[in-house]
Amino acid sequence: MTTEGRTDQPKPRVAVLFGGRSSEHAVSCVTAAGVLGAIDKDKYDVIPIGIAKTGQWVLASGETNEWSLSASSLPEVAPSAQTVALAEIGGEHQLIVAAPNTVPQELGSVDVVFPLLHGPFGEDGTIQGLLELSDTRYVGAGVLASAVGMDKHFMKVVFESVGLQVGPYIAVTDRQWRTDPETVRKRVDQLGFPVFVKPARAGSSMGISKVDSLDGLDAAIETAREHDPKLVIEAGITGREIECAVLEGRGNDSPRTSMPGEISVAGGGHDFYDFNAKYVDDAAALSCPADLPEEAIARVRELAAVAFDAVGGEGLSRVDFFYTPDGDLIINEINTMPGFTPKSMYPQMWKASGLGYAELIDELIHLALHRKTGLR
Ligand SMILES: Nc1ncnc2c1ncn2[C@@H]1O[C@H](COP(=O)(O)OP(=O)(O)O)[C@@H](O)[C@H]1O
Ligand SMILES: [Mg+2]
Repeated sequence: MTTEGRTDQPKPRVAVLFGGRSSEHAVSCVTAAGVLGAIDKDKYDVIPIGIAKTGQWVLASGETNEWSLSASSLPEVAPSAQTVALAEIGGEHQLIVAAPNTVPQELGSVDVVFPLLHGPFGEDGTIQGLLELSDTRYVGAGVLASAVGMDKHFMKVVFESVGLQVGPYIAVTDRQWRTDPETVRKRVDQLGFPVFVKPARAGSSMGISKVDSLDGLDAAIETAREHDPKLVIEAGITGREIECAVLEGRGNDSPRTSMPGEISVAGGGHDFYDFNAKYVDDAAALSCPADLPEEAIARVRELAAVAFDAVGGEGLSRVDFFYTPDGDLIINEINTMPGFTPKSMYPQMWKASGLGYAELIDELIHLALHRKTGLR
């Protein structure tokens, strides 16, 4: 079934979903704290819904105000006796809350869901599939774009198919590693060291190791496999880390791209942009706009839009590149739900391009409210 975008509601109800089952649970909580603090409550009726690590949906309250990331505190959605569910009742998408031995209560209808979830079971098409099944509008990428954007192997396959330059890599399945590790080691050796060993479907640098010789390979593989049985192993690339924010165009317009930004990791024992550099030690400097020649800026923006369209992006994505000393732009990844706190790169790049955090949230909700449901 396909329905046209609804514009008749004076105050749309927005369910903000955060937390979730992935190892990026805490990062998602901090993102939610940022969004809940900035979303225009005069314009939208906001319902915060946390997803506990067990997968349970719970009504969240004001605790999000306190949330931030530090080495000693990783915020977490606490499970509750009351579970929230989305159900179609009387042709409306209703939120209901249920507890053992009580009659479920209706919390009212929902016009749009804002899934602020990172990582598997959130950013990977699973939540999106659930929302598609119930014909509910939501912010951001659909099922396929989310799934491709989560998988560091398949995103490269798609990028290569549209002529984007990806670095040398191999994908390693669970079966390959369990049945023939020697061939895996040989193929890695052919890539040349250093290599980056990564879980295929993770984020926030979780489970990623830089490996300088064959000696460290097996341990790095086991570390990555704690996050995902499927791995991607890449040749290390020397280059500046340049990122670009993409925002879907309104109506039939092309995707909008921000001024590119640059990430540089300033010492502190961080060999690359790892989890602690990203969130805990504040060791990464974000500069936006990145200090690049005009021609490179134009190319980054053009390639970011190509990557967004290649995966069938909707709503938003951040596209990350390595800018090599030769002037090549090698695509590293696309993130369909990038870090989204006010300090994160995606909002910062839009800020530097003239679109503030609250306006950006508003624009994403606008795009979602005006999107058709069903196949599109
Ligand atoms: N092939 C590579 N060459 C050089 N550095 C890399 C490579 N892959 C990853 N890195 C470093 O590791 C960081 C995290 O890797 P990335 O693939 O972006 O994972 P995540 O999805 O967790 O952000 C990058 O920002 C970069 O600093
Ligand atoms: Mg990254």
